[in-house]
Amino acid sequence: MKEQHFTDIKACVFDAYGTLFDVHSAVGKFRDEIGPRYAELSMAWRTRQLEYTWLRSLMGEHCDFWQITSDALTVSLAANNLNNSQLHDRLMQAYLSLDTFAEVKQVLTLLKRSGMQTAILTNGSPSMIKAAVVSAGLDALIDHQLSVESVGVFKPDARVYQLAVDTLGVDKEQISFQSSNAWDAAGAAHFGFRVAWINRYAQPQEALPGNPQAELKDLSNFPALLGIC
Ligand code: LAC
Repeated sequence: MKEQHFTDIKACVFDAYGTLFDVHSAVGKFRDEIGPRYAELSMAWRTRQLEYTWLRSLMGEHCDFWQITSDALTVSLAANNLNNSQLHDRLMQAYLSLDTFAEVKQVLTLLKRSGMQTAILTNGSPSMIKAAVVSAGLDALIDHQLSVESVGVFKPDARVYQLAVDTLGVDKEQISFQSSNAWDAAGAAHFGFRVAWINRYAQPQEALPGNPQAELKDLSNFPALLGIC
């Protein structure tokens, strides 16, 4: 049974890529140049990017998300017969100014107006996330930009979620965590956050430990979940 309301929330923590920022908007900017396989390329890039985070964490070979994103793009371009170093570099630059989803700015504005503490907790490296936040005009709406680089391991390692608790100075039960990535929502729920899974692509829930307490199709109704209107 999903919860209708989250009570006693002191801080709202958001995943970045896929939740606030549309990762597919990078390839989308070059769709004419890339041709009909652009969507396939974008999906392969995203999938491989995430796989590399999990694999490197298991191998004990951490490197930052900018390097991972670049490596995942190189291999995905090759897999789609699109070896082109200029295209690679332009797509990487596009990752620094991704589109936000339509409702994001308004929702963050509402949360800040209500006095809520806000943060991003992301795999992204500090410079990547800073660039994306500034480019989207969200800097005044996000109090803390928290990167896994502070702990040197990727989500869903519990040390990443603990970083938010340590930085924000509130109990984990008082943090509402939002992610569109079902595995991240599961990881955060398993850690002990209250979790709203932002199921933008109508996906089935993953069969993993950790059960998000709410499911929304985008962030529009998230303030109402907290009793903020
Ligand atoms: C992030 C990845 C999971 O922003 O999208 O942490």
